[in-house]
Amino acid sequence: MGSDHACLEILSVNLLDEERQRVDELRHLAGTLGLEFGWHYLLDLTWVLRHLGTIRGQRIMDAGAGTGIIQWYLAQQGATVYSVDRLDRSALPLRLRAHARVRGLRPADMLSSSAVMERERTTLAGGARSRRFFRNVQSILRGMLPRREGEVILYNEDLAHLSELQDNSIDTIVSISSLEHNTPEGLEGVVTEMLRVLKPGGRIIATLCTAGQTDWFHEPSKGMCYSAATLKRIFQLPADLADNYGDYERQMGELRTCAELRDNLAMFYSRSGNNGMPWGKWDPQYQPVGVIKTKA
Ligand SMILES: C[S@@+](CC[C@H](N)C(=O)[O-])C[C@H]1O[C@@H](n2cnc3c(N)ncnc32)[C@H](O)[C@@H]1O
Repeated sequence: MGSDHACLEILSVNLLDEERQRVDELRHLAGTLGLEFGWHYLLDLTWVLRHLGTIRGQRIMDAGAGTGIIQWYLAQQGATVYSVDRLDRSALPLRLRAHARVRGLRPADMLSSSAVMERERTTLAGGARSRRFFRNVQSILRGMLPRREGEVILYNEDLAHLSELQDNSIDTIVSISSLEHNTPEGLEGVVTEMLRVLKPGGRIIATLCTAGQTDWFHEPSKGMCYSAATLKRIFQLPADLADNYGDYERQMGELRTCAELRDNLAMFYSRSGNNGMPWGKWDPQYQPVGVIKTKA
């Protein structure tokens, strides 16, 4: 499966027990921030954090960050996090702004708190508006408390075009279940651009989805499930790098019967058929896979 230098590893459900303390910390933080986990994210998050090493004082990019938890976790631990996503997150909820220092890389990347409150005042209906108002006031008060030294910098941009970031400027790139939402050609461009901004010796530590030996598109979640061969090619890993794809079926069996993930499935899955676990019916169709690529 490789080393901390180059690695390709289908993630095992054993991570939940092996990284129990981290699982508890992440669950607690998600509760505080009002965030939910994707169905396999506790495996992805614990695997990435296991490999990450030093956090405090590092410039870390969260690639395809959305509003996901790892950026808030890393900022809490003292990192400067470049939070990149092609989604417009300029109206980032105030409760997330209250957790860490947050700013936009460019002025348009983050609206002021008062602009967000004004937008909510004009778009939300009566009861929801007052509930949000009181939560926002709480967030603003919480945001006045002294914060630790970490920071989140929002950059609403495609990962293939990071023109605001200089060559060799980022210590590490982490990515949680995001890069699979790119075609193979698109992902090649993303990896090239991520390697440009990484410092020499810096690493991409990413999780994606895999369905074994062939590339496959999972229509409900609009994500590619990449084979070992494609991931090795796109991330420019050695073709003979050892991986655990020989164990795919056994690990898939363990995932299907993993009560901890099944019984904690987030509520949002049951509201739609267009996601990784359509209509909230526990039936994993693919597995999370971790990739580590080091820039020469
Ligand atoms: C399933 S979400 C995961 C979000 C987050 N990593 C988390 O832990 O919740 C995938 C995100 O990746 C982003 N994404 C995928 N490909 C991207 C690209 N090429 N450029 C920027 N964002 C991208 C999507 O916009 C989406 O917000």
